[in-house]
Parts: sequence; C-alpha cells; structure tokens
Amino acid sequence: MANRKYIVGNWKMNGDHAALAEAKAIAQAAAAHAGVDAALCPPATLIAPMAEAVKGFAVGGQDCHAEPKGAFTGSMSAGLLQDAGATLTIVGHSERREGFGESDAAVQAKALAAMTTGLDVILCVGEPKNVREDAEAEAYVLNQLDGSLPDVAAGRTLAVAYEPIWAIGTGLTPTADDVRVMHAAIRGKLIDRYGPELGAATRILYGGSVTGDNATELLGVDNVDGALVGGASLTAAKFVPIIEAAAAL
Ligand code: 13P
Repeated sequence: MANRKYIVGNWKMNGDHAALAEAKAIAQAAAAHAGVDAALCPPATLIAPMAEAVKGFAVGGQDCHAEPKGAFTGSMSAGLLQDAGATLTIVGHSERREGFGESDAAVQAKALAAMTTGLDVILCVGEPKNVREDAEAEAYVLNQLDGSLPDVAAGRTLAVAYEPIWAIGTGLTPTADDVRVMHAAIRGKLIDRYGPELGAATRILYGGSVTGDNATELLGVDNVDGALVGGASLTAAKFVPIIEAAAAL
C-alpha cells in the first residue's frame, strides 16, 4: 500500500512574524486535503508563534542538538523544540553537513535524540555534483544512510529526504528515472535496516527545486512519498499547488 504523501516546507533562514500570514494560508489550504500530511519548518524563533497561529498543523525544527541540555551555546535540543510546539525536526540537511561539518555519526545521534524525545524526524541525504558526475551517487547516499540512520524502529516517525546537493536552490532536478533508481535503492536500505514492514512504511521524500510545475511528475515516481521544499515553501501561492499536486495523485 502506498504511503500517505508528506509535503514539508523548509524555510531555512527566512521568515519573520510577518510571514505567519503565509503559514496560516498554507495551513488552511492543507486542511482541505486530509489525505496529505503537510508541515512547515520555520526558523527556531518562529516555531512557537507559528504553532500557536496554526493549531493542528505540524510545525518543526530544522536541526537539533544530540544532547538534551547543557552548555551548548546557540544550540537547540529536541526537547526545547518540542516545548516550543514542534512535532518534528529535520536533521542532516546538506547545509548543516557541509556548512557546519556534521558527520554521519553526528546526524545519527541527532536523529536518535529527536525520535526518543517524541519528534518525527526527516533525515536528509544527497550527493554533491561531482559524485553524481562520477556515477557514484547511489553508493554515496547508501553510505550516508549506513552512517546516519538511527538504530531504532522507524516507520511513520522517520522519513528520509533525498536531496541531491546540486539540485538545491538551482532550478535543476534529476530526471524522474534518476529519482526512481535512487529512491528504490533507499527503500532497499530501509528494508534491510528496519525489516519489510517498517522499511516500507518509512517515507522517502524528494527535495531539490520542487515547484508546483514539477511536483506532479516527481511525486508520481515510485517510492517518492513526498517532498521537502525550500524556496517554493515560503509563500502559500507557491507551496499550496505542491500540496494540491500530492492530493491529486
Ligand atoms: P529548494 O526547494 O529551494 O531547492 O531547497 C530544497 C531544500 O534544501 C529543502 O530542504
């Protein structure tokens, strides 16, 4: 049975209080599509006001620390995200892996901390351009998964997002066939790791230049259970068509 589609917006370092109007419009539109799960991951400063403004709609963090508390200036634990109203968090985004030197082991520890705290997790993987050009993308991504998937039962609370780095914010996307091949490989890894039932139920999102124009094609690919959307999630005008595309499948 196909998994429910999961459409998640990652606002990255964008969005102040004025942007709550967009979140409200997105949540309202999403409520009309009960067959699709939708969520927004705003900057940490906006989690509490957004959760308050869009009650019943899922709001998440973009990262969390592996430790529950302590002397970690500038960091946010999974428990603090939850206290602010988050029900999920992204971990291992390439902008964290690359910009902040996060290793697979660090990402795994974050995922485990978030899941044991009770947050749903979206764990990101994806290859850089040169790895794709060298035809090593699949091995690279599977290796990332080996090192960063948490050793706890997955299923509905864990999603993997395949985000090829060269497709993020560039307007470039892999072909539908490339996405199909990569998502099938990720599915195989999830089944190896968590068994046939939970491995099949763990959603695999595609991310990287998803828009209302390409959502129907990308979301229609086998083993694409949703999308992780950056730029096109910042406004209702751009994000709602992606939710609608998922609902129409
Ligand atoms: P874009 O949709 O802007 O390419 O960003 C993708 C992304 O990084 C989502 O996490």
